[in-house]
Amino acid sequence: MAHEDKLIGELDKLKTSFSTTIEKIEKDIKRKDKIMERSDKRQRKEYDELQDKLEEVKDLNKEIEDNQREAVFQMGVIGETRSKETANHVIRVAEYSYILAKAYGLDAKESDILRQASPLHDIGKVGIPDAVLNKPGRFNEEEREIMNAHAKMGYDMFIKLSGAIYQAAAHVSYEHHEKWDGSGYPRGLKGEDIHIYGRITAVADVFDALGSDRVYKKAWDDEGIFKLFKEESGSHFDPRLIELFFENLDEFKKVRDSFKDEYKEGLVH
Ligand SMILES: [Fe+2]
Ligand SMILES: [Fe+2]
Repeated sequence: MAHEDKLIGELDKLKTSFSTTIEKIEKDIKRKDKIMERSDKRQRKEYDELQDKLEEVKDLNKEIEDNQREAVFQMGVIGETRSKETANHVIRVAEYSYILAKAYGLDAKESDILRQASPLHDIGKVGIPDAVLNKPGRFNEEEREIMNAHAKMGYDMFIKLSGAIYQAAAHVSYEHHEKWDGSGYPRGLKGEDIHIYGRITAVADVFDALGSDRVYKKAWDDEGIFKLFKEESGSHFDPRLIELFFENLDEFKKVRDSFKDEYKEGLVH
């Protein structure tokens, strides 16, 4: 009997120490859970804060981009006002350039950069004296030279600015009067030596200028414009771009119809 009592005693001891160990383990687990919970909460908070910051940065980026888009557009309007063009001319030239850029195979980003930069082609005209700019009738040689300087002046204005749109605008300004056969100005560049942005802007700008009524001229009809484009393909214009122009004519017409010029008392606004 004594032996059994001893055994039971031993078992009891074991039981007590076992339950203390279990209790200790349970406590440990609970403490760990609490610590985990706390660090989980902290991590989540940090994550949420980071998310918020990211949203803020995104919003700021969007705001900067929108502001730049607006400023660039207004610059285009200023430049084109010097040529007695309208704000809708700026939009149309932008959209025509975009259509051609995409059709030519430029990617979406490059095409959008050109869309914004192409209406800046005549910004250099802000530096041309009114007496020359508004002279009725033909220019003499000296006046022609002054007038033609607008291409290089636009280039000089933009090339100093960093940013893809301004760099594109520099090319557009410098090269929108170059011709495929090398007979253009200011440098007499030929073929693909003319930046694609300049070649596209030339087609877009001429198409719009010919097809629009102005205080000093009536719009050409489509037949006349198409005839000129066919004749000038390979001389003034990049022949590939003229092909693409005719292939995408419906899109061009859609833009023209959506952004018509408004008239008030016979004046263009
Ligand atoms: Fe020009
Ligand atoms: Fe223009």
